[in-house]
Amino acid sequence: MRVSLMALALGAATVVGTAAYAQGDVIAERRAGLKRMGEHMQAMKAVVDSRGNVQPLAATVDDMIAWYQSMPGRFPPGSDKGDTRALPALFAERANFETINTNMVNQLQVLRAAAASGDAAAFGTAYGQTGQTCGTCHRPYRMRAS
Ligand code: HEC
Repeated sequence: MRVSLMALALGAATVVGTAAYAQGDVIAERRAGLKRMGEHMQAMKAVVDSRGNVQPLAATVDDMIAWYQSMPGRFPPGSDKGDTRALPALFAERANFETINTNMVNQLQVLRAAAASGDAAAFGTAYGQTGQTCGTCHRPYRMRAS
């Protein structure tokens, strides 16, 4: 009896340990992906500022669309704990978070169409709107850097 209880306890510890590891992974992965989104925005800004060719940026925007389509799944319950700047409100106001994220994907579709058309002025306008859309999620749901 004593032995089987011990085995049960060990089994439970293993499960908890695995879950904690997976959670840490989810946070590290989403932060790395969001960092990449920031780098994409910087790279596109350089093209906008230098009035360069926007057409090749369609591929960059494709990576962003794929990322934001995956965003809701990257904030599973419990991933508000750990090395994250996601605010508790994000998890409490899930539907609103997802609505803002859908707006982000829609805005990126506009940006992609502007890139594909090669119209640098239209791209510049859509780029500005894209940056503002990032802010509509960061203001309520991301901790400010200290
Ligand atoms: C729907 C919500 C949402 C949208 C839209 C959004 N972000 Fe964020 N972003 C977050 C949250 C939440 C965090 C904090 C994540 C964490 O620390 O776990 C974050 C973190 C970041 C970070 C810091 C990553 C790191 O190094 O830890 C960068 C950079 C970033 N976002 C860039 C962007 C850019 C650029 C856009 C627009 C193209 C954008 N985000 C749109 C919610 C969003």
